[in-house]
Amino acid sequence: MRLKNQVAIITGAGSGIGRVTALAFAREGAKVVVADWSEAGGAETIKLVKKPSSAKATEDKPKGQAIFVKVDVSKSSEVEQMVKQCLAEYGQVDILFNNAGIVKMGALHETTEADWDQVINVNLKGVFLCSKAVIPQMLKQGRGKIVNTASIAGLVGFDKIGPYCASKGGIIALTREMAVEYGPKKINVNCIAPGVIKTAMTKDMLNDPATAQGFAASTPYPRLGEGEDIAMAAVYLASVEADFVTGEVLVVDGGWTAR
Ligand SMILES: NC(=O)c1ccc[n+]([C@@H]2O[C@H](COP(=O)([O-])OP(=O)(O)OC[C@H]3O[C@@H](n4cnc5c(N)ncnc54)[C@H](O)[C@@H]3O)[C@@H](O)[C@H]2O)c1
Repeated sequence: MRLKNQVAIITGAGSGIGRVTALAFAREGAKVVVADWSEAGGAETIKLVKKPSSAKATEDKPKGQAIFVKVDVSKSSEVEQMVKQCLAEYGQVDILFNNAGIVKMGALHETTEADWDQVINVNLKGVFLCSKAVIPQMLKQGRGKIVNTASIAGLVGFDKIGPYCASKGGIIALTREMAVEYGPKKINVNCIAPGVIKTAMTKDMLNDPATAQGFAASTPYPRLGEGEDIAMAAVYLASVEADFVTGEVLVVDGGWTAR
């Protein structure tokens, strides 16, 4: 098991990439804090993590351990409470997967200030707040792994998701800043830039045949991404195998940005 005895906080673990990563981390032996503002989503993830079949429970691989914490990652008081609950339950925090995110579609000149603020606050400020809240504990422990979910939308332009692109570009810049600042303290900070992944976030887009066809045509590998593709990248970046990897943008996009 690659994350044995590790404690991981995963934001946005109530759905999609975060949920699949919670299952993968638990399979690899981590105790998981399923952090999400959706109680229903969080409860479903906890159920799946604790299900012996999904965690492949054996003597060697006990069923997954997890708690749910309701949090809005854009609110500092809730984020601080999330870390307190993690420490009260498990006494340590080794991994933070900053994954919660939202998207709002629309032409930039028609985007409201409220929508701009909400996307930046959840996607970018959320990464800042959660990192700020766990770093003191990681400094005490003398090590830590922070993995942020960016996007290829932070690397190349995408139509009609201006605030989202800005937030993801900001995550990439912040990842590098944090890697430089905390590298000397053995806190690794990396991000993953997924391409199109089949989750609730992309469901409506993928239900539109023209959009789905466009996505497929832009992806050299002959399928779109699955949550598991990102979860496996997150397991790697959270593991000791990636101790010398920091400040990296791991692109997992089936070749979209290789063109
Ligand atoms: N699906 C894709 O194609 C794709 C591509 C690139 C990047 N991403 C990124 O991956 C991450 C996960 O997205 P997903 O595709 O799994 O989407 P999703 O909608 O399935 O999951 C997002 C989760 O985040 C939670 N969340 C949203 N705002 C929150 C907040 N303020 N506080 C706490 N939880 C909050 C939601 O409740 C949900 O459970 C996001 O950061 C997203 O931008 C997704």
